[in-house]
Amino acid sequence: MSAADANHYVLAGAGKMGFAMLEGWLRQGLAPGAITILDPQPSKPLQARCQETGISLNPPPATIRPADVMILAIKPQMLASAGPDLARIAQAQTLVISIMAGKSVDAIAAQLPHATAIIRCMPNTPAAVGRGITGLYANAAVNAAQKARAQSLMAAIGKVVFVDNESQIDAVTAVSGSGPAYVFYMVECLANAGVHLGLAPELAMQLARATVEGSGELLHQSAPVAAGQLRINVTSPGGTTAAALAVLMGAQGLDPLMQSAVQAAYDRARQLAD
Ligand SMILES: NC(=O)c1ccc[n+]([C@@H]2O[C@H](COP(=O)([O-])OP(=O)(O)OC[C@H]3O[C@@H](n4cnc5c(N)ncnc54)[C@H](OP(=O)(O)O)[C@@H]3O)[C@@H](O)[C@H]2O)c1
Repeated sequence: MSAADANHYVLAGAGKMGFAMLEGWLRQGLAPGAITILDPQPSKPLQARCQETGISLNPPPATIRPADVMILAIKPQMLASAGPDLARIAQAQTLVISIMAGKSVDAIAAQLPHATAIIRCMPNTPAAVGRGITGLYANAAVNAAQKARAQSLMAAIGKVVFVDNESQIDAVTAVSGSGPAYVFYMVECLANAGVHLGLAPELAMQLARATVEGSGELLHQSAPVAAGQLRINVTSPGGTTAAALAVLMGAQGLDPLMQSAVQAAYDRARQLAD
């Protein structure tokens, strides 16, 4: 992927995730002239970005040449209505990369009948700050060069991992796709617990937020030290942290609760598949 790249990239849907990817690609040096964006109600920042870079935004459908790479970043429920327009641009040579939660390769193929090479991805919202992680599943029609291209495109917003079978994408969705919301909720719960101990709400939130921000960064900077080891490092036997962890790690603690929550996300991803 470079300024000399002659491929045509079509981004369908440039909302939160699509726009974050676009910014990453521009940072990586993808030529604006290689990109076409389709989004029926483009945001002001997107319009401004397209104007200043010369990216083609919503050109007349008849003028759009077939895509070498089509990235689907629309909401899953929009696929059926967007399908007919996109099907003309997704031809036999097109690599289709979908980030739509839940939508199966078969469901995508049904809407884009000429395309055969399909990659399903699950990014997550830290993509907005270049610190996401994306799980990718490639169907059998995707060749090595196309896999490498998809990896490079998704690396613009963070780390990339491949999974071997499609059902694992639903597991990726449940763990890392939805995961940031679990962490944000943990901040809320930790702050709430502080309020119950008599702290002012703002102070409790400041403490909880900084704790999760700092712990995430420490985890990041400590790699490859395991999260469990970092936990052990801050847990003195008989101390305050150990007292809390006895609750969190008990039979009714966080592990079984997280398993139920992640299972619920997984089940929901499967329901959305068709
Ligand atoms: N946000 C996340 O953390 C996250 C994580 C993993 C996966 N995803 C997946 O990423 C996809 C996009 O999520 P998002 O949060 O970026 O949603 P979003 O902000 O709503 O973006 C979707 C964009 O697609 C546009 N759109 C609607 N119909 C279209 C059409 N026919 N052709 C082209 N564009 C169309 C929407 O326009 P309007 O606003 O006018 O409808 C909107 O700008 C979803 O499928 C989601 O499952 C998101």
